[in-house]
Amino acid sequence: MHDERQQHEQHTLPSSPRWYLGPGDLTVTRFGYGAMQLAGPWVMGPPADREGALAVLRAAVEAGITHIDTSDAYGPRITNELIREALHPYRASLHIATKVGGTRDAQGGWPPARRPEELRQQVRDNLTSLGLDVLDVVNLRLGDAEGPQPGSLAEAFGTLVELQQQGLIRHLGVSNATAEQVAEAQGIAPIVCVQNLYNLAHRQDDPLIDRLAAEGIAYVPFFPLGGFTPLQSAALSAVAARRGTAPMSVALAWLLRRSPNILLIPGTSSTAHLRENIAGAGLDLSPEDLTELDAIGR
Ligand SMILES: NC(=O)c1ccc[n+]([C@@H]2O[C@H](COP(=O)([O-])OP(=O)(O)OC[C@H]3O[C@@H](n4cnc5c(N)ncnc54)[C@H](OP(=O)(O)O)[C@@H]3O)[C@@H](O)[C@H]2O)c1
Repeated sequence: MHDERQQHEQHTLPSSPRWYLGPGDLTVTRFGYGAMQLAGPWVMGPPADREGALAVLRAAVEAGITHIDTSDAYGPRITNELIREALHPYRASLHIATKVGGTRDAQGGWPPARRPEELRQQVRDNLTSLGLDVLDVVNLRLGDAEGPQPGSLAEAFGTLVELQQQGLIRHLGVSNATAEQVAEAQGIAPIVCVQNLYNLAHRQDDPLIDRLAAEGIAYVPFFPLGGFTPLQSAALSAVAARRGTAPMSVALAWLLRRSPNILLIPGTSSTAHLRENIAGAGLDLSPEDLTELDAIGR
């Protein structure tokens, strides 16, 4: 408890385990930051509080976070441009993961865009808006707003492999993918991560997480706090009250305990929430807490 209080006061990440994303050359803190919430309402347009958004990004990096998740579709471009303005030139330790495979329409929808020429353009757009010559991690986003959908990813993933061979991408991943699509991608080229919907209340990927852990591949849950409607659960609130902390801290601590290959990218547009979430990384849950929390999504 003393340690937790100290971390709260210092606003820094507790000495957090790292995860090797690439073959030896790309290490990130397991506790990262998801930048999607920095754009305007429903991830369209600029934020109402631009200085606040820049401050959140700087606070995340100052706290010791070395993994930021983004996409040029957020805003669109807005989130990447904020990251560049706040953090460029980037620290050597900072790694930015992005996504391609989708675009935005005038209504704020997220239509798929996975034809080879669309993917090449999205990779170029990410390089430009982030101010990079090479992207550390690019996830191919599959499925649609309803979730993963079956179907071959071979053509789209093959296009990203070509861009990797051209030196524009270091590592590949897949997102919003079925277990079959993950396996199909692995049959084409190595992947370093899978980014899918998962949190205390949505546990459909439990078998996939365990398989990836055995293979040394990171699993990066999106909506780790429940997304646009943050998690609400009597059990979560009860554990948080017992621990004297916030429910969101407990939800993140549970994810870190769930499996060693889970990397966190919680999103927030608030520096206060960022600090609250960071506190979750240092929270030590008891076996009793874990049993209670495990029951939420079962
Ligand atoms: N691959 C994909 O298809 C996909 C889809 C969605 C998201 N993502 C990625 O996943 C990341 C995380 O997802 P997300 O940001 O949408 O959802 P999330 O991390 O589950 O939750 C974000 C929501 O929780 C709120 N929140 C954060 N910390 C809080 C706290 N301590 N107390 C109370 N509320 C808190 C935020 O509001 P405030 O801003 O007010 O804090 C925001 O409404 C995104 O940033 C994005 O990079 C990927």
